Amino acid sequence: MTIHGGDGAGTDGVDWDAEAAAFDEEPDHGLRDPRVREAWAARLRAWLPERPGDVLDLGCGTGSLSLLAAERGHRVTGVDRSPAMVALAREKLAGRDAVFLVGDATAPPVGEERYDAVLVRHVLWTLPEPDRALRHWRDLLRPGGRLVLVEGVWGTVSPVGIPAGRLTALLAPLGGRVDVERLSEDTALWGRDVDDERYAVVAVPD
Ligand SMILES: C[S@@+](CC[C@H](N)C(=O)[O-])C[C@H]1O[C@@H](n2cnc3c(N)ncnc32)[C@H](O)[C@@H]1O
Repeated sequence: MTIHGGDGAGTDGVDWDAEAAAFDEEPDHGLRDPRVREAWAARLRAWLPERPGDVLDLGCGTGSLSLLAAERGHRVTGVDRSPAMVALAREKLAGRDAVFLVGDATAPPVGEERYDAVLVRHVLWTLPEPDRALRHWRDLLRPGGRLVLVEGVWGTVSPVGIPAGRLTALLAPLGGRVDVERLSEDTALWGRDVDDERYAVVAVPD
């Protein structure tokens, strides 16, 4: 991964346009291995509403999770700041009930639309004001809607990410139910053994 400080870089310092072409080569990104794909599909079945609904995938990247959601009958809106990522997501979901927009995950360009689920994988930890983003995402939910947040702490020498304890503390002011699921031990999700902290949070705010 290339770290840049220039205009094309996000708040995480990564030039995601430059990363887009090779992004799907990681097992948990491209989900090209059927075992990895099925592992994520099974988790999403449990995390997303059972009935087809409207799902907002923020920082959607190449749309791999968007595609799994669309395959379950959900209508998907994906938002990513990287035009190259959005182009790949549009290609991946061509012919599906899905739209992809270039925009900022902290203020998605979706107007008055409201969603049954806001899905965000590996993006929240990079945002400068995660508490503010969470409040905004809560406001994008229909009554009874949920936030599905997949995050972690990566690396051991200079770890980056957001620990589950900090994320649940940030969610506490929103009230409602918060369920945390550890994902580190599920090798099938990552295509290999991992020993860092990986988890998902499903939050149904009040
Ligand atoms: C690690 S990738 C995750 C992609 C996708 N969520 C997935 O799990 O496959 C991070 C993605 O978030 C996007 N991103 C980072 N900061 C963003 C922001 N503030 N608004 C919108 N997209 C952002 C990047 O362009 C990149 O596509």
